[in-house]
Amino acid sequence: MEQMEQIEQLKEQLKKQEKLASLGILSAGIAHEIQNPLNFVINFSKMSDKLLKDLEEIVADNEDKLPEDDREDLDDIVADLRENMSKIAEHGERAISIIQGILLVSRGKDGEFLPTDICRLVKEYVWLSYHAMRANHKGFNITIHEQYAENIPMTMVIPQDLSRAVLNVMNNACYAVWKKSQTAPDNYHPEVDISVETKEGAIIITLKDNGEGMSEETKERLFDNFYTTKPIGQGTGLGMAITRDIIENRHNGKLTFDSIKGEGATFVFTIPIRK
Ligand SMILES: Nc1ncnc2c1ncn2[C@@H]1O[C@H](COP(=O)(O)OP(=O)(O)OP(=O)(O)O)[C@@H](O)[C@H]1O
Ligand SMILES: [Mg+2]
Repeated sequence: MEQMEQIEQLKEQLKKQEKLASLGILSAGIAHEIQNPLNFVINFSKMSDKLLKDLEEIVADNEDKLPEDDREDLDDIVADLRENMSKIAEHGERAISIIQGILLVSRGKDGEFLPTDICRLVKEYVWLSYHAMRANHKGFNITIHEQYAENIPMTMVIPQDLSRAVLNVMNNACYAVWKKSQTAPDNYHPEVDISVETKEGAIIITLKDNGEGMSEETKERLFDNFYTTKPIGQGTGLGMAITRDIIENRHNGKLTFDSIKGEGATFVFTIPIRK
């Protein structure tokens, strides 16, 4: 009897996996097809922006021939058009990045394993994320504590993937502390602790933040594709799914996390050293 139940369960699982696999292939196909028209949208909006510049120059050259009212109207229209163009480009770029995320999850480009200085890679992408966050959120600031062990050997990893993983987790950390700082009392200091060390033949990369933390539901669904608590336009909900795939499937490692709601979150990558 028990065996029958197990067989039924396995059948169910198989069905689910088959569905997921065909969904993956389908979405990869669609994502790929959408990329081209999107690139057109972005490129034409950039070209139109250049044309607007030319138009402005022509208007400036003929300033004396235009009545002042018309001139002002023209300036306003050109400014509005320029803003529209930049919105089209910005949102187009965002759509492209979502699509690239989908492609990464559903098909997985094979990157190359290369001997890599992990501390350097981590440092580079932690700061990249920090600067991107500062560019997007006015007044955003955090203290970053870094601790890199000295004896870390060069290790075979896929640098393009591992850097993506660091970036994803650091982006989330920055967002979490920024979000908390919006409502926290004045004495709240956003902080992120980064460390790289070795332990029992593995490299341990830890990213800890004192941001808003995760609810029980978020912890359960963290790795689900498209699960996000961010407002529309800010999160795709693919970051952690991609990150887990990178650490566990591509690097044979382990991704663990811990979080207390309201207090922060810690993410740990454990990657076996391969020389
Ligand atoms: N450090 C963190 N602190 C608090 N919540 C987090 C943290 N990291 C992830 N989360 C929660 O997990 C959710 C899923 O994260 P994930 O990175 O997969 O998607 P996202 O950040 O919402 O979108 P994106 O695809 O752009 O990364 C987030 O929306 C957030 O609620
Ligand atoms: Mg994210």
